Amino acid sequence: MSSNSSFQSTCLVTGGAGFIGCALSSGLANRYERVVVVDNLHPQIHKVRERPPALDVRCELVVGDVTDASTWDAVLRDFSPQAVVHLAAETGTGQSLTESTRHAMVNVVGTSQMLDGLTRHQSVPQKFVLSSSRAVYGEGVWRRGNGELFHPGQRTQQQLAAAQWDFAGATPLPFRGALTPPAPTSVYGATKLAQEHVLNSWALARVSSPRILRLQNVYGPGQSLSNPYTGIVSLFVRLAKAGKAIPLYEDGEMSRDFVFIDDVAAALLAALDAPTGGFVHDVGTGVAASIRQVAELIAERYGSPAPVVTGQFRNGDVRHAACDIQDTVKSLAWRPQVDLRTGLNLLCDWIDEHLNPAVGTV
Ligand SMILES: NC(=O)c1ccc[n+]([C@@H]2O[C@H](COP(=O)([O-])OP(=O)(O)OC[C@H]3O[C@@H](n4cnc5c(N)ncnc54)[C@H](O)[C@@H]3O)[C@@H](O)[C@H]2O)c1
Repeated sequence: MSSNSSFQSTCLVTGGAGFIGCALSSGLANRYERVVVVDNLHPQIHKVRERPPALDVRCELVVGDVTDASTWDAVLRDFSPQAVVHLAAETGTGQSLTESTRHAMVNVVGTSQMLDGLTRHQSVPQKFVLSSSRAVYGEGVWRRGNGELFHPGQRTQQQLAAAQWDFAGATPLPFRGALTPPAPTSVYGATKLAQEHVLNSWALARVSSPRILRLQNVYGPGQSLSNPYTGIVSLFVRLAKAGKAIPLYEDGEMSRDFVFIDDVAAALLAALDAPTGGFVHDVGTGVAASIRQVAELIAERYGSPAPVVTGQFRNGDVRHAACDIQDTVKSLAWRPQVDLRTGLNLLCDWIDEHLNPAVGTV
């Protein structure tokens, strides 16, 4: 690392070589004189453990693990970031049930190691932006037929095994930070919530308050096509391209709010540009789509067989997830621009161009 730079505008990005980090990198390099990315090039995401071409050349990459105190001593010895974007995380919802320690280590201890590193080096960033997740809400809040609101909690193994997918007679409400209390149903969601609390407590005690963005399901060009644990949309595209019928878990009617990568990068940048202040921002399109709808759009594009309901399920999956973006639109200079059909076509174009048919990965 070069020495410098108390006069420079500086930004630290953890996990910045990943899907969202790369999409964000040119926007950051346009805003800050020095951008340092700390990323361990995790083999589950980075098939080739090299600097990704999509990471803006103006960003410095330090290959290091956020859980390792020596990473932070090496990075922060001569670098005092004014802004921090904390993206590094283990992100596999299903995987987090069987590898909970790994998720807790990276998502919680990785965050506290970063904060201890900042403390050791007497560095207090003015701005913190955290990419949290809609997974912190779990099933959120539902409304019964008589108007009563309730928190259904997690669907049990018995419920799922009996194909009781929904909470009978009730409809889900979209997540809204100001109104929906967090109640994660996955270990991943629990660690993301802990990450929020750890960062909030540390930063507030140092008179800077983080902006927390709870992202819905992000998709788009640049997402890993080799990670088997995340990215349902890219999995569907790979199956349809191979002429296979897309399998639909449960009854195919689970819903998600799929938000395009450029809209997510724009939201993170808007959060950095906004005045310092502690806010939770829901980042999605505000429109729920069923998994069946997404599968059908993709099958239509490739002329592959119609999607097939398999009745399989994953413990920890929520039935419905979408958000209300009205508060985010009011408090950030941001609004999503890309609808689902357009975004899926952009993703499919990119996959068609980049997928290596021999190995099935980019
Ligand atoms: N992609 C989504 O749909 C989505 C949805 C909600 C929240 N998020 C959050 O956004 C953030 C970024 O997600 P993404 O989609 O870009 O994921 P990604 O897996 O593409 O990127 C994560 C990056 O973090 C790095 N990383 C992982 N463990 C690390 C460690 N121990 N030390 C240093 N670097 C490490 C990886 O190498 C990778 O480059 C995560 O915090 C995730 O929880 C993503």
